[in-house]
Amino acid sequence: MEIIRTPAEMTAWANRVLAARQTIGLVPTMGFFHEGHLCLMRKAKEKAERTVVSLFVNPLQFGINEDLGRYPRDFSRDCQRAQAEGMDILFAPEVQAMYLPKSSTKVEVAGLTDGLCGESRPGHFVGVTTVVAKLFNIIKPHYAVFGRKDFQQLAVIERMVADLNWDVEIIGHPIVREADGLAMSSRNTYLSARERQTALCLFQAIAHARKRVQAGLVAANILQREIEELLRQEAVTIEYVSLVDQATLQPQDVLQKSTVLAMAIKVGATRLIDNANLFET
Ligand code: PAJ
Repeated sequence: MEIIRTPAEMTAWANRVLAARQTIGLVPTMGFFHEGHLCLMRKAKEKAERTVVSLFVNPLQFGINEDLGRYPRDFSRDCQRAQAEGMDILFAPEVQAMYLPKSSTKVEVAGLTDGLCGESRPGHFVGVTTVVAKLFNIIKPHYAVFGRKDFQQLAVIERMVADLNWDVEIIGHPIVREADGLAMSSRNTYLSARERQTALCLFQAIAHARKRVQAGLVAANILQREIEELLRQEAVTIEYVSLVDQATLQPQDVLQKSTVLAMAIKVGATRLIDNANLFET
């Protein structure tokens, strides 16, 4: 596996691959790889002849009081893991190489970014879409793999690609969970043993919601209240509990096939998100 540090070298590689008429698969990440990231890499390898994983802790998508400064990093372990997955390239640019002092262009998807995480993290999605747009231009992938754990992010990127006529296929990968149900996340390392236990309430909330839906509950407001109650019992801070349509992200009154339960909570100082379509198992 080759490590590339500059956009210019990355694009030169991409151009050589395209000239050889091979396909490129990209997995954008912020590093500190866990099994979730590795599953995305495997998916990219399944789809494309050549694969790139990008590792860039993107300052543009962090708010002022967020965890940019302490975001977990382990470059050498990430290199080993990406290599073990058979990635061709690890693209790990410096911040200065990605954002030149003069840079003044941002990519913004309106509407879909208003609610859910967009409401509590103003500016976050502009940071995400701007960096992903840059990665697409630098790496020129035919396929790009994203996790459904960040299901709003996936919807926003699909919208961006459609709106800007990007010739890249966006592939959504199911959430990868620990054995006890906690969705894998680089941020799980922030949790103390006790908080780690508390964090399981997200998965318990999903299990509860699925059970209620199977029993025939259709009123979203009733389910929402029950879940808020369940989370409150665990003494976590609720950022949002929403029952939304998986494509439009609009709140739904009636639970139906397209309904996703999306949640963001804080366990201690750690912000965690999770979601599930309630009619899929
Ligand atoms: P990061 O949080 O590192 O996640 C990289 C990719 O891994 C995202 O597509 C995310 O949805 C996916 N992922 C993380 N945990 C997962 C899990 N448990 N199961 C399945 N997929 C999972 O998301 C970002 O980075 C950034 O916003 C990025 C898209 C790289 C732009 O900076």
